[in-house]
Amino acid sequence: MKILILGGTAESRALAGQLAVTGRFDVMLSLAGRTAKPLAQPAPVRSGGFGGAEGLAGYLRDKNIDVLIDATHPYADAISVNAARAAALTGVPLVALRRPVWERTQGDQWIEVESIAAAVAALGQAPRRVFLALGRKEIEPFAEAPQHTYLVRSVDPVDPPLAVPHAIYLTARGPFRETEDRALLERHRIDVVVAKNSGGEASYGKIAAARALHLPVIILKRPALPEVESVETVDELLDWLDHAVTSAASRGV
Ligand SMILES: NC(=O)c1ccc[n+]([C@@H]2O[C@H](COP(=O)([O-])OP(=O)(O)OC[C@H]3O[C@@H](n4cnc5c(N)ncnc54)[C@H](OP(=O)(O)O)[C@@H]3O)[C@@H](O)[C@H]2O)c1
Repeated sequence: MKILILGGTAESRALAGQLAVTGRFDVMLSLAGRTAKPLAQPAPVRSGGFGGAEGLAGYLRDKNIDVLIDATHPYADAISVNAARAAALTGVPLVALRRPVWERTQGDQWIEVESIAAAVAALGQAPRRVFLALGRKEIEPFAEAPQHTYLVRSVDPVDPPLAVPHAIYLTARGPFRETEDRALLERHRIDVVVAKNSGGEASYGKIAAARALHLPVIILKRPALPEVESVETVDELLDWLDHAVTSAASRGV
């Protein structure tokens, strides 16, 4: 069975590793090619866009892919829309691996917003010290609010830097634990965090740290994603694949 995993997440890497050890699947992992030094992956990798849904559909046909797995980040909505469209165009079965959202818990001071522009507005007029836990491509609108001091953490350096007088840049790759994020927020005297509701463990540290320090979190709501068959964990996906293999065998495929 030939599988294409649309990846770029910790889960896609874990899934590729689990599938590789079974030796039962021919796996290709697809990355967008955004990070300068991507982590080593436990499966063959192709990198870069396909050229929209039609390009992805062409790839699925050319490579005789049997199953398409969308294991991209929940905020990577364009590739998920393309995956749904390409599956519809080709008839290749699609399953999405989607982390459940983080739920607000006691002590959380969340301000949920629909867009980055709304997150900028929610910071208000008075100067604040802001931890921007967002991707490089999402921080540019914060230049509209130059009165704040920004702490920006990203995998690759932010280039060009944010057009504001006060910004501090850190390059680091998760996972980030609560203790280290708490120390970071304290060291930089942060008074508000801006984050996505990514779900999963790897980036929850800042949410727990903000709660412990009684800091508000401006949290960007998830984008709408196409309604496709989906599971929440790598184990559930492995079960889904087992089932797909068994039913293909019983149909004599
Ligand atoms: N957005 C986030 O917050 C976030 C966080 C962590 C990791 N990531 C990962 O970073 C990558 C890019 O995220 P994004 O938000 O920029 O995506 P996006 O906005 O949904 O996608 C933009 C375009 O990038 C290409 N692309 C995206 N993911 C791809 C993949 N896995 N393989 C091949 N092409 C891909 C596609 O180009 P074509 O139309 O030309 O095919 C897509 O139309 C994804 O793999 C995602 O899982 C994203």
